[in-house]
Amino acid sequence: MADKQPLNIVKMKKMKAEGVPLSMLTAYDYPSARLAEEAGIDLILVGDSLGNVVLGYDTTLPVTIDDMVYHTRSVTRGAQHTFIIADMPFMTYHGSIDESLRGVRRLMQEGRAQAVKMEGGLGICATVAAVVAAGVPVLGHIGLTPQSVNMIGGYRIQGKDAKDAQRLMDEAKALEAAGAFGIVLELVTEEVAEAISKAISIPTIGIGAGRYCDGQVLVYHDLLRYASPYREKRFVKTYADIGNQIREGISQYVREVKERSFPDESHVFTADESVLESLYGAAEKGAK
Ligand code: KIV
Repeated sequence: MADKQPLNIVKMKKMKAEGVPLSMLTAYDYPSARLAEEAGIDLILVGDSLGNVVLGYDTTLPVTIDDMVYHTRSVTRGAQHTFIIADMPFMTYHGSIDESLRGVRRLMQEGRAQAVKMEGGLGICATVAAVVAAGVPVLGHIGLTPQSVNMIGGYRIQGKDAKDAQRLMDEAKALEAAGAFGIVLELVTEEVAEAISKAISIPTIGIGAGRYCDGQVLVYHDLLRYASPYREKRFVKTYADIGNQIREGISQYVREVKERSFPDESHVFTADESVLESLYGAAEKGAK
């Protein structure tokens, strides 16, 4: 891995132009980041989905900038040769530009991310432009934007009618004009995602947005079915069933401790005779 060259935003745009798809996965800690890097992932997203899959919240709204900095720092320690993007959490980029830049600074300096992601369209373009002007790459995120779940009225597919499709197209073009280096399209109909991908020069990265985006992203815990209970999602493919393996492994450990078959002889450390004598005395040891 040491010789792996991380991607950068110039190469990503080139990959789009050459039709080379981008693979992106979320990660939230050192081992998940390290494993993703070892597996050859192009991009890692420290998503605020950590609120759902790691912290046990029912939405991403409670995730704070401190949570994001803490998790980003462990991910960047784990994947030192991969381009890492950190999510700006709920309501940290809707106030003043100064406040937004403070959050960005923490993710870059303390978290050591290479870029940040923000959810939203026209309403955040001025902030995107200011962050880009400060020298920080920004990944946009439109379609289903989980931080706005209370406005959208649930986790619904976006781009189902002509008006909504046009709104998404306008948002994508505005984000490109504001300087975003790419855009996540979440839960967008395949036709609309394809049209957007053709209409802009920066890469689109889809999740539940069909086959014609310039890249794909999945949540680590979805791809590996690493959750309990696991909620099926149509747009997810399970590549390994880690949740069941973990449960089975722990059950077996509990069984073996109860029946005293773990630890066995192969797991123990033995002391010299002299140690036994000092503990029990020579006579007692003989009697033992
Ligand atoms: O937070 C996240 O994991 C995301 C992905 C679903 C794109 O935003």
